[in-house]
Amino acid sequence: MPEVYNWQLGRKMLYPYEERHPKWQFAFVFNINRCLACQTCSMADKSTWLFSKGQEYMWWNNVETKPYGGYPQFYDVKITQLIEQVNPGGQVWNVRVGRKHHAPYGVFEGMTIFDAGAKVGQAAIGYIPTDQEWRFVNIYEDTATSMRALVEGIDKTGFSRDEPWKMTGSSLPEHETFFFYLQRICNHCTYPGCLAACPRKAIYKRPEDGIVLIDQNRCRGYKKCVEQCPFKKPMYRGTTRVSEKCIACYPRIEGKDPLTGGEPMETRCMAACVGKIRMQSLVRIGEDGLWAEDRWHPLYYTIRVEQVALPLYPQWGTEPNGYYIPPRHSPRGYARQMFGPGVDNAIEKYLVPSRELLAVLQLWRASQQIVFRYDVIPGPKVFETQIHGKRFEMYNDTVLGFNKSGKEVARIQVEEPIYIRPAERVTWL
Ligand code: SF4
Ligand code: SF4
Ligand code: F3S
Repeated sequence: MPEVYNWQLGRKMLYPYEERHPKWQFAFVFNINRCLACQTCSMADKSTWLFSKGQEYMWWNNVETKPYGGYPQFYDVKITQLIEQVNPGGQVWNVRVGRKHHAPYGVFEGMTIFDAGAKVGQAAIGYIPTDQEWRFVNIYEDTATSMRALVEGIDKTGFSRDEPWKMTGSSLPEHETFFFYLQRICNHCTYPGCLAACPRKAIYKRPEDGIVLIDQNRCRGYKKCVEQCPFKKPMYRGTTRVSEKCIACYPRIEGKDPLTGGEPMETRCMAACVGKIRMQSLVRIGEDGLWAEDRWHPLYYTIRVEQVALPLYPQWGTEPNGYYIPPRHSPRGYARQMFGPGVDNAIEKYLVPSRELLAVLQLWRASQQIVFRYDVIPGPKVFETQIHGKRFEMYNDTVLGFNKSGKEVARIQVEEPIYIRPAERVTWL
């Protein structure tokens, strides 16, 4: 099997196809700390693409509550357990050997889904969820757990080895409890498990933007993609007997929506986000297959410079292009299991943001057009305090966002402006 370089793992890994990269890559950052689980994203996606017969149980976008929620249920626990069966106790990161640019989180020394798959004669290790597991997209929503339950009932990886789905009890007092929302769409992975698995070669990654699509004419419904995508994002449709998945709203990315006059536009689920937790763009890929340095690109800055957003389950090896600002309030061990060893640095950066990061974070949902570049106009200092013993200064800077053609599409200040209603407009009750 060929070897490919996975920068999130800081090393080469097995993959069924030779290394090949698109010119641009669809990518996004979700800020977990701001999500209110209103499910507007889920409904925006559903009402755009998934309202037909046979799609009743399909949710290309879902928001699950961790630690117990999952769509399909237990998918992450099951994948983690399957890999551990092949490689017991060996899923470790060597953070000491990490090189800043090519291995920012250290080197993963365990097995990916492809390494583990090779052991069992598959492209990637996986399983097909049962109908029951697909049935309740929102199960365990808002179900909390406690640090005590984690310490006593769950092992270091954050998951109970025995019947994790039975760990459902909430535990008070409230300061001991936690849960958080995890927003999920297809990650349009660099090394997709779905693409690796399909015996029909019906899945392809577009060279222009890295979007991963299932060719509906080639697909014969073998469901290997459903089995071997660890994130469980391809879904089988009984009425057409082929599988479907998130298409990254590619007509919008291509600028086909009349609203933006030919300019790339964010996807439906991103644009609809009420909590302003989502930002999506396209990042340029260099000759070496890595992200080309692009200092004034909001995603490059957030992910590569500040490293405040991290990939979901990077240890699975698909090099997902969805990134998350990890949850502040969950136990760190649990968060590291999901987002890798970069969690502590990311949370620290988010808690006491630099002047520039605070400005850039204002761009989340500031425009329906895709932002490819930003700039910051300095403003006056408006506030200062200590956070966890560190000095924090807030400046009322103005951040500008530019679209692909370089036209300004967003201009927003760090400090929210206050409007005082004029006397003649006051409503007296
Ligand atoms: Fe394929 Fe799954 Fe990655 Fe999407 S998340 S590209 S369906 S492996
Ligand atoms: Fe649905 Fe588009 Fe979001 Fe994919 S990117 S989940 S197709 S709204
Ligand atoms: Fe291939 Fe998945 Fe269709 S494995 S044949 S794309 S159902």
